[in-house]
Amino acid sequence: MARVRGRTIRVLFDAETIAARNREIAQEIAKAGYRNLLVVSILKGSFVFAADLLRALHDAGLSPEVEFISLSSYGTGTTSSGEVRLVRDIESDVAGRDVLIIDDILESGRTIAFARDLMLKRGAVRADLAVLLEKPGKLAQPLAAEHVGFTCPDLFVVGYGMDAAHAFRELPFVGVVEERRPRTARAAARGSRAPAPAGRIRRAASGSRRGSRGRAAYRSRREP
Ligand code: IMP
Ligand code: MG
Repeated sequence: MARVRGRTIRVLFDAETIAARNREIAQEIAKAGYRNLLVVSILKGSFVFAADLLRALHDAGLSPEVEFISLSSYGTGTTSSGEVRLVRDIESDVAGRDVLIIDDILESGRTIAFARDLMLKRGAVRADLAVLLEKPGKLAQPLAAEHVGFTCPDLFVVGYGMDAAHAFRELPFVGVVEERRPRTARAAARGSRAPAPAGRIRRAASGSRRGSRGRAAYRSRREP
């Protein structure tokens, strides 16, 4: 558990576990036989994973070029609408090259499928996928990432680059924001909070905050 911004965060994958897995993925990638490799990190959510994985790739003997693409998927709260928008493109020509696309989470797969289709349309020889987390059973289309860090429970997670309304990206671990405890009349009178039933983060991340930076902020654009 950690306390951040007045919220309790339950740790799902700690920093040491992630670092060890990054080293394994880097070995896997080193053995995959990529040639003239261009790594494309999808902003914003993958920036921490990409930074760590790239250094692990160096340790594994690879020296890729690195680019960034900024994609946005829109929706309400923490659910993607399915529409992916290119916000900022890469600068490199990918024709004839092997590309490795890095993202934080593979959920519906729409974001990463958009990036892969774009690279292949531009003539990339290979456009493989490396994701830190995969949420099983959520794919909108058949899609398999070649390199996967961990299977993630069907919860809205934050940390290690991933956010809820731009917060929590700095956490060195991946975790779940525990739901705020509802106030009973008596607890409210005492100025304390009642014990909460086991809650789901989807609500905590999308709608439980009050005030100008609360509900509206969490319902805003969902940043990949
Ligand atoms: P997609 O549904 O696979 O297209 O995922 C879209 C994007 O939503 C991913 O790139 C993530 O950045 C983001 N995302 C999906 N699930 C979560 C989550 O649990 N926490 C934070 N971001 C998420
Ligand atoms: Mg993302």
